[in-house]
Amino acid sequence: MADKTQKAYRASKNIYDDVITQGSFLSKMYIKIFWSGTDDNEIARKVLSYIPDNFKGTILDVPVGTAVFTENKWKSLPESEITCLDYSEDMLEQAKQRLKDSSHISFIQGDVGNLPMEDETFDIVLSMNGFHAFPDKEKAFKETHRVLKTGGKFIACFYIKGKSSLSDWLVNTILSKKGWFTPPFHTEEELIKILEHMYKDIDIHVDGSMVYFCCTK
Ligand SMILES: C[S@@+](CC[C@H](N)C(=O)[O-])C[C@H]1O[C@@H](n2cnc3c(N)ncnc32)[C@H](O)[C@@H]1O
Repeated sequence: MADKTQKAYRASKNIYDDVITQGSFLSKMYIKIFWSGTDDNEIARKVLSYIPDNFKGTILDVPVGTAVFTENKWKSLPESEITCLDYSEDMLEQAKQRLKDSSHISFIQGDVGNLPMEDETFDIVLSMNGFHAFPDKEKAFKETHRVLKTGGKFIACFYIKGKSSLSDWLVNTILSKKGWFTPPFHTEEELIKILEHMYKDIDIHVDGSMVYFCCTK
C-alpha cells in the first residue's frame, strides 16, 4: 500500500500542480466532467481563510504535497512554526524547493498514521486533500487529533463518496487503482459522526464531492 502511494505520486509529480489548479484546458475539462466543476483553488482559499492572517503559533500541514496551495500562506506567517509532512519523497521535495528560504518551516517525510510528534504539539492541524489518499483513515484521525492541542483547530478538505456517481466511478475505477486515492471512503454522514465524537464547534461545508471543515479539539 505504502509503495503504491509512493509510486502513484512519483508518476504524477510533474502534472499534479497543473491538474489540481486547473492550469490547462485539459485539466479544466477533467474537473468539469468528473468533479462537477468543483474548484480546488476555491476550496483551498476557503480552507486557508480559517487561519488568521497574523497567526502566530504551531501548525502541522499534513500532507503538504507540493505545497501548491499552502506556499503563499505559509510564507506570509513568519512568526509561526510550521511543520510540513508527506509520505511521498517526490512531493515533499517540491514543497522544499518552494519553501526553501523560510526558516520558520520544516519538513518531515513520514506517515500520518504514525506521527513523530509529542501529544498536543500543534495549535492547528491542516489536512488538504489528504484523507482520500491516506490508507488508514482511522489512524490518521487519531494521530492528527493526538498531536493537536486542546482548544486547537483541525482544518481539512477531501473527497467524500455518495455525492456524484461520476466522481465515485472515477475514484473507484481509476484513482484508487493507481494509488492516488485509497479506499474505504466516508460519506458525509459518516464523517460528521467521526468529527462529532472527537471535536466541537464543527463548521462543515460540502461542494460537489468535496467536503471542507474547521473544528476545535
Ligand atoms: C492529493 S495530494 C494532496 C497534497 C496537498 N495537500 C494538496 O492539497 O495539494 C495527497 C498527498 O497525500 C500524501 N500521502 C498519502 N498517504 C500518506 C500518509 N500515509 N502519510 C502522509 N502523507 C500521505 C501523498 O504522498 C500526497 O502527497
